[in-house]
Amino acid sequence: MSTLMRTLLITLWAGRALGAVCNSNGTSVIALPITDIAVDPSIPDSLMRGIPSRIGTPPQHIVVLPWPDLNNTYIYDQEAYCDPSIIWNDKICEIRRGGYFYEANSTSFTKYSDLVASGGATQELGTRGAELGVPKLLSTSLAGTERFAAGTSNFTTMPIGIPRMRWDNGYTILHALGLGSNSTYLNALVESQQIGSRVWSIFWGRMWTGSAATDLDGSVVLGGYDQEKVIGRNVTQPLDYSEETGCWTGMKVTVSNVLVNFRNGTDYSIMPRNSAVECCIVPQRQLVWEAPVDMVDAFERATQMNSTGLSYGLHWGARQYDASGNIFDGDVTFVLSSGLQIRVPNNQLITPFVEVDRNGSRLVHQSPKELLMGGVSDNPTTLGRYFFTAAYLMVDHEAHTFTMWQANPTTKSNLVPVARTSTDNADGACGGDSGGTGDTGVANGGDSAGEAASKASSSISAGAVAGAAVGGVAALGALAALIFILLRRKKKRAMVTSGQPPPADASGVNPGEPDEIYYKTDMSGIHEMPGISDSHRELHGVSVAPLGNGAWANGERPRPSFTAYELEAAGLSSGYRT
Ligand SMILES: *[C@@H]1O[C@H](CO)[C@@H](O)[C@H](O)[C@H]1NC(C)=O
Ligand SMILES: *[C@@H]1O[C@H](CO)[C@@H](O)[C@H](O)[C@H]1NC(C)=O
Ligand SMILES: *[C@@H]1O[C@H](CO)[C@@H](O)[C@H](O)[C@H]1NC(C)=O
Ligand SMILES: *[C@@H]1O[C@H](CO)[C@@H](O)[C@H](O)[C@H]1NC(C)=O
Ligand SMILES: *[C@@H]1O[C@H](CO)[C@@H](O)[C@H](O)[C@H]1NC(C)=O
Ligand SMILES: *[C@@H]1O[C@H](CO)[C@@H](O)[C@H](O)[C@H]1NC(C)=O
Ligand SMILES: *[C@@H]1O[C@H](CO)[C@@H](O)[C@H](O)[C@H]1NC(C)=O
Ligand SMILES: *[C@@H]1O[C@H](CO)[C@@H](O)[C@H](O)[C@H]1NC(C)=O
Ligand SMILES: *[C@@H]1O[C@H](CO)[C@@H](O)[C@H](O)[C@H]1NC(C)=O
Repeated sequence: MSTLMRTLLITLWAGRALGAVCNSNGTSVIALPITDIAVDPSIPDSLMRGIPSRIGTPPQHIVVLPWPDLNNTYIYDQEAYCDPSIIWNDKICEIRRGGYFYEANSTSFTKYSDLVASGGATQELGTRGAELGVPKLLSTSLAGTERFAAGTSNFTTMPIGIPRMRWDNGYTILHALGLGSNSTYLNALVESQQIGSRVWSIFWGRMWTGSAATDLDGSVVLGGYDQEKVIGRNVTQPLDYSEETGCWTGMKVTVSNVLVNFRNGTDYSIMPRNSAVECCIVPQRQLVWEAPVDMVDAFERATQMNSTGLSYGLHWGARQYDASGNIFDGDVTFVLSSGLQIRVPNNQLITPFVEVDRNGSRLVHQSPKELLMGGVSDNPTTLGRYFFTAAYLMVDHEAHTFTMWQANPTTKSNLVPVARTSTDNADGACGGDSGGTGDTGVANGGDSAGEAASKASSSISAGAVAGAAVGGVAALGALAALIFILLRRKKKRAMVTSGQPPPADASGVNPGEPDEIYYKTDMSGIHEMPGISDSHRELHGVSVAPLGNGAWANGERPRPSFTAYELEAAGLSSGYRT
């Protein structure tokens, strides 16, 4: 196909993308694996877990992760903007990013002046708590259209942004596959009829179960969900992206209790009575739970574990424990106000310490152990990727809802399409009321036809209604919890625990108090953070790489040369919301 032809087609596509959504018959579903991939084939254990993908012509191999809070897809090239304070050389950065995409080597990359011009989504969110600089990505990224295929899906040509600024610091790692409400990727798949609806689901799978036989790949299902991987009744809630929720993925849930499940059958609640914690579901985040510091402390007390510090590895911010000490052997159960109970098993909660070595190998250390909970104070609490070792999530942009189940960890698969609903008229995406021949989508997708036809999770479940009713009560509970926490924090200030010794090769780095993690994503809460020295912290706790030069050589850790203040002065920090 000539470049001209392609450009024409793309232009056509860009103009019609959303209209075409309505012509699809709503029956196609794709499953993409979440699995370990050797990012650099010359380094066999350069493993990252994500969705193996191909991009460009000839195809280059990269690893992506789904981001529910982005509309566009952002792919790193060799300017990968890792945070030099925790990612110490370029090889580590390349592996953690899931390989670089060299656009200059691709004959199918067509550059545009910016993302919108290339047909990209016109809006990204800027809610506080989300990664710094998300809204700026739209205007600052190098933009173009490119052939892209995640997992086993077919190539589709779509707009991509190549970041030209630091925006996520690299904690959450890998290329970002935008699956927001106006996702260019989902739109492109619907347009090319690879999927029938803008619905996606995720189960993370399981690692570190102790044997390869019980380890399990996860999957991202596009156009529906995997019925084999869910148990029991679902809970469906509306997606709400509004700023007031404080939840940038649109998926806020209320955790009304957290139970420590001892091996002898005793359950112990670590939450104060009548309290509740509102959490944002952020499946790309690197822990089970970013929780109020006092809750993590309560977990430690209940399980009699003594933390030695915070992780600076792939589970950045997790608490670490010497394996020769007391290591809790039970589970933890999250009780949501909707009635859903999610029990995260011990081996998905307390894991080996995992990092990427300077030589690019993923190293798995049996000591220290890591508790995949991190304490936050001013940042929103989140349920992250490892929550989905035990829960299953479906996001339905046609019905504007998200649905959760208890997960069934199995290799079996039964993909069920979730069709668009006739009442749907999302975002004008279906060209108003006329959008509709396929709307009622009779499913014929294999053995699951019955369910699929009846499904279309447009209706808000009883659970969600109950959840809403409970909401008011929960708000009071949350207030009580907040007061409780504030009182506790006061007390805690006095007792400074000793930090873990700095990593051998991170000279000058003092991890600081090992009880709290701090995201450099907003300016309101400057707290302890692994891998950042006190001297940096004095400079507002934010250190960033030289602009336009995220890569460096020789394993040297450059001194950060810009501070947040300087960034602010340069007008690059307006993504913060305080
Ligand atoms: C729906 O679309 C898929 C993919 O284009 C096609 O294979 C299938 O036959 C279609 N089904 C109906 C009922 O039109
Ligand atoms: C995506 O785009 C839609 C429409 O422009 C916008 O409402 C939404 O906030 C954007 N972000 C996400 C995560 O959906
Ligand atoms: C791709 O581009 C990079 C840098 O732009 C270059 O070093 C490399 O040799 C190229 N690879 C191929 C296969 O062209
Ligand atoms: C969604 O993105 C497309 C481009 O991909 C854009 O034309 C459209 O306006 C966006 N929709 C909304 C509601 O913003
Ligand atoms: C991918 O393309 C092949 C060949 O054109 C086709 O047979 C297959 O159905 C396509 N897969 C999807 C998911 O559309
Ligand atoms: C179970 O173990 C926990 C923690 O060791 C202990 O507090 C509790 O009393 C035990 N329960 C029973 C019934 O033995
Ligand atoms: C934890 O550390 C404290 C102080 O270092 C010590 O007194 C206590 O016995 C330790 N607890 C356990 C369970 O190891
Ligand atoms: C990288 O270094 C670690 C030890 O630091 C070693 O175990 C591993 O085999 C090395 N990997 C390669 C590819 O050399
Ligand atoms: C969720 O539960 C409701 C109520 O039981 C049911 O009607 C709906 O079909 C379920 N949704 C899915 C996707 O299974």
